[in-house]
Amino acid sequence: IPVDPFDLVIFGGTGDLARRKILPGLFRRFCAGQMEEDSRIIGAARSDMDSEEYRHFVREAITEFDPKTKGECAHLDEFLTRLHYVTIDALGETGWAELAELTRSDKVRAFYFSVAPRLFGPLAERLHLHGMADGESRIVVEKPFGRDLESARALNKVLAEHFEENQIYRIDHYLGKETVQNLMAIRFGNMLFEPLWNSQYVDHIQITVAESVGVGGRGGYYDRAGAMRDMMQNHMMQLLCLIAMEPPAKFNPDAVRDEKLKVIRALDPVREEDIVRGQYEGTEDLLGYRREAENPESTTESFVALKAHVSNWRWANTPFYLRTGKRLRERASEIAIVFKDAPHSIFDEDAGRHRNILTIKLQPNEGIELGVTIKEPGPGGMRLIDVPLDMSFAEALGPEEADFPDAYERLIMDVIRGNQTLFMRGDEVEEAWAWTDPIIAQWEDDAVPPIRYATGSSGPDDALMLMHRDGRRWREIK
Ligand code: BG6
Repeated sequence: IPVDPFDLVIFGGTGDLARRKILPGLFRRFCAGQMEEDSRIIGAARSDMDSEEYRHFVREAITEFDPKTKGECAHLDEFLTRLHYVTIDALGETGWAELAELTRSDKVRAFYFSVAPRLFGPLAERLHLHGMADGESRIVVEKPFGRDLESARALNKVLAEHFEENQIYRIDHYLGKETVQNLMAIRFGNMLFEPLWNSQYVDHIQITVAESVGVGGRGGYYDRAGAMRDMMQNHMMQLLCLIAMEPPAKFNPDAVRDEKLKVIRALDPVREEDIVRGQYEGTEDLLGYRREAENPESTTESFVALKAHVSNWRWANTPFYLRTGKRLRERASEIAIVFKDAPHSIFDEDAGRHRNILTIKLQPNEGIELGVTIKEPGPGGMRLIDVPLDMSFAEALGPEEADFPDAYERLIMDVIRGNQTLFMRGDEVEEAWAWTDPIIAQWEDDAVPPIRYATGSSGPDDALMLMHRDGRRWREIK
């Protein structure tokens, strides 16, 4: 279904995110017929180039970064005609009058701030000064949204000077992932799970986002952030919220975000002994973290594992174990809901004890698996084994249907549709920092370096201990 005609201005239109995600994503939506004829994309950046040169730049980006069509979709030339470019100075006057002229229309107007956060304020202000911040405009803001509570508050404040909350779309691309949305469908679209979704039946929850890549060329940014700021405060926190939240009365932006906010507010402070930070070492072929980040003394963590408690009626005494890191064995992200043992076993000891585990797999292969216990086939008596009731989306739906749009594609279209459900509200981001800040402050006070872990491992052994201590174990990263 095509979305309303729009003008989308990408500040930072020549940057890495624009090349890798935003422009290839828009191209795929174009190929899918979602862009009406008079919709336009306007790249805006400091580089001095004209629209023709920008089209050439975008052609190369799409050819390189669109994994599905590699730019070979017959429509590429047509798509490129929708592109324009304005040389702009975020801190000066260059280009603003031209941009205002170009976007003067009654179409949906969206401004994507794919730039360093220090430019958010100046951009918002110039949009206002040049008459582009009216009620019909939307702004899209990338992470990192601040580096602590104070800076996030300052950003919210500066944006609020010129835009209403319902015009501000704070991106967390994890919310645009297909399975993440499916999490809500599973919880609230089935009778089967929700009655069991509480501490009476759930023993614990594990959330793993493991990456096999290192920090690569992003060392400069990453070394000032670390896994806690880069992944935990946003992506992991959002996953936790969707698992833990109460059913919203409706699937609408504020109903969903109100419930997520309550979860963050119910989080206990994390105890020092319940958190492990790590930093990867190099191998013969791969640089270690410090060399990659070009900081030989760096104490920034590339791995973090922690135990969190949501202190409310539903989740009292059900721990949430979260871990994320780079240069781990595999790229594998999943959420596992581990149910309790049956209260009484009617089988003898030999049968073994088993647990149901509901696994929501985010990547690389999206799907949902429910581990159920059955009798081991054969004449050997009543022995129990676990088998998966496996719902691989690709198998269940066929490859066509399971060819999900990338998170960015979906989210940008939601901006045009004016749907904020999958975007973070200002208060949510602030609360998430309020929970994260004391953890980071503690590290900074103690000046304890992270534990080194081997590239290709599952992180520091201490992270394993975090669960062993409680008589539990992480699921294998595979
Ligand atoms: C980004 C982080 O937000 O998410 C990166 O800044 C991380 O460090 C990336 O690699 C992971 O995203 P995905 O979609 O590849 O899991």
